[in-house]
Amino acid sequence: MSTGLDATSSTQFALHFATGSHPQLLVPTLTPYYTTASGAAYLQDARQVLARIPDGSVNLVLTSPPYALHFKKEYGNVDKDDYIAWFLTFARDILRVLADDGSFVLNIGGSYNKGTPTRSIYHYKLLVALVEEIGFHLAQECFWYNPAKMPMPAEWVTVRRIRVRDSVEFVWWFSKTPWPKANNRAVLRSYSKDMIRLNERGIRATTRPSGHAIRASFDQVSAGGSIPSNVLEEDVPTDMLKMGNNAANDHYTQRCKEAGLKIHPARFPATLPDFFIKLLTETSDLVLDPFAGSNTTGAVAEGLHRHWLACETDETYLAASTFRFAGSEVQLSDDAIRRDAPLQAVRPTDRATTR
Ligand SMILES: C[S@@+](CC[C@H](N)C(=O)[O-])C[C@H]1O[C@@H](n2cnc3c(N)ncnc32)[C@H](O)[C@@H]1O
Repeated sequence: MSTGLDATSSTQFALHFATGSHPQLLVPTLTPYYTTASGAAYLQDARQVLARIPDGSVNLVLTSPPYALHFKKEYGNVDKDDYIAWFLTFARDILRVLADDGSFVLNIGGSYNKGTPTRSIYHYKLLVALVEEIGFHLAQECFWYNPAKMPMPAEWVTVRRIRVRDSVEFVWWFSKTPWPKANNRAVLRSYSKDMIRLNERGIRATTRPSGHAIRASFDQVSAGGSIPSNVLEEDVPTDMLKMGNNAANDHYTQRCKEAGLKIHPARFPATLPDFFIKLLTETSDLVLDPFAGSNTTGAVAEGLHRHWLACETDETYLAASTFRFAGSEVQLSDDAIRRDAPLQAVRPTDRATTR
């Protein structure tokens, strides 16, 4: 969908933006629910916000949409049969708003076929549609290893003992063109003990049975850190990102409990946006989360000195997400203050940081 802005004005936006303007200027016809120094959060259907963002002005779209489940969760999960058509109503604009070297990182959960211990393949169908119908390139499949995932569906795992536990979710990295901006030096990990030991002993140049040539320099550990896909010491398969999601006592959850506000039930860990924002963006770049929930993405982006935009349709979740910006000034819109709905539960000390 076009915003009516020509390519020149989009470029001007991007340039102007990089010099320190606020990202809410990209969406001048909508009032954010709240803003911070670097971002704006909208109480809106993401399609309304996406449609207004100029072409090519976003560096990274990172999100976890409601998944297609065979039972309805409380925040608008769409039935599997309709899921792809539903998601593509967002995806076309996601592609359009991305810069040519921009990326789209999509965290999506798998699902089961009703009544049987077999898996739905809806998420694979979505991947194919995003590439073949919308025009994204699949840059890399990553996986979020979540050891805290519940043994679901209980019927097949804990009652009839047929299936084993699921403990991964898919994190697909798409790019607008085949050449996304990315820098794995920004996400290096510590060297494993094994690698340091290898380096101390040294290794001979050799060719493995697989045919891979191992050079003597292979063992050098002076490159500043280990490339993440090689983190094998935790028995984590290649490309697997190991992150628990047990932030039961972080500032956000504590504040929600104290204020009597509902804690978002499907947050991803801050480590996930932290990893991809570092990998795929630079300081002052713009990150968008169209399904922001508790706005983990916006808060991480703010901390990493990126600009951000967030959309969320549930006011309680969006109001509570202000707790993620402890120590930063949060400006609530006049409308949000007037309606006062979930915010009345916010303690005066919390509101002192808001307008
Ligand atoms: C899986 S949650 C995202 C959680 C988030 N990653 C976090 O860490 O808190 C998906 C969110 O999308 C919101 N949502 C559903 N439909 C939406 C829409 N059309 N536009 C914007 N947000 C929507 C839901 O209310 C829900 O909070």
